[in-house]
Amino acid sequence: MTLHPVILPLTPEEQHLRGRARLQAQSQRSREALALSCEASGVSLGPLEKGDRNAPLPFHGTFWSISHKSRFVAAVVGPAPIGIDIEEITPRTDGLPDHIAAQDEWALADRRWETFFRFWTAKEAVLKAAGVGLADLKKARIHAISDADNLIVDYASKRWTVRHFRFQNHIVSLTHDGHEIAWTLVLEPHALDDPEPVPPQPQAYKQQHSQPG
Ligand SMILES: CC(C)(COP(=O)(O)OP(=O)(O)OC[C@H]1O[C@@H](n2cnc3c(N)ncnc32)[C@H](O)[C@@H]1OP(=O)(O)O)[C@@H](O)C(=O)NCCC(=O)NCCS
Repeated sequence: MTLHPVILPLTPEEQHLRGRARLQAQSQRSREALALSCEASGVSLGPLEKGDRNAPLPFHGTFWSISHKSRFVAAVVGPAPIGIDIEEITPRTDGLPDHIAAQDEWALADRRWETFFRFWTAKEAVLKAAGVGLADLKKARIHAISDADNLIVDYASKRWTVRHFRFQNHIVSLTHDGHEIAWTLVLEPHALDDPEPVPPQPQAYKQQHSQPG
């Protein structure tokens, strides 16, 4: 089967929100992306409930994962535990690279911010798929870098295959277990609270990419 991760932009107004209102807008937008991922995957969106450590619980056998950052959100559903994470590639504090990966992991690639965000989002995606979150950051380790878009993370006695997708200085990581991936990236923001909401139309998608698994 094919996984259908969906990336949506936040409107400029949503990007200017602060605190709880901003988080609510991001959360709402990521659930809209999740509904689109369901639609593309041919599954019905079920109740979005959380379990231990706030981890998403599957609905009708469908697993889901979302990620929201200040300009974009990402969401995906799948038939098995799945994790997605999105980050904007911007320099961070100097100590962070050594916090996110050990020396032997850094030896696998050039030490630059792009690599940092590959490692960071890949580990977060895996830890989300496992339902644990950042508490186990040090236990998730980059095992190998397969090519520019793929790497393998070791976590909990399992090798997790992770695919990257890059756009507009952002990187998304997705655990995929060998499934094919059809990415949907929407670049044009739209208001969520239109008085008469228009259902999403295929032509609303500005860019669509399919990559073999
Ligand atoms: C999961 C986690 C790594 C995501 O952090 P982040 O990069 O700041 O946020 P992202 O936008 O990428 O992802 C947020 C989404 O991750 C999901 N998420 C939260 N905790 C999760 C977990 N343990 N496992 C999988 N997914 C989780 C949620 O769906 C959340 O969005 P929502 O609150 O709108 O539903 C981080 O929140 C974490 O470590 N959580 C666990 C903390 C914990 O153990 N809490 C216990 C008390 S509830």
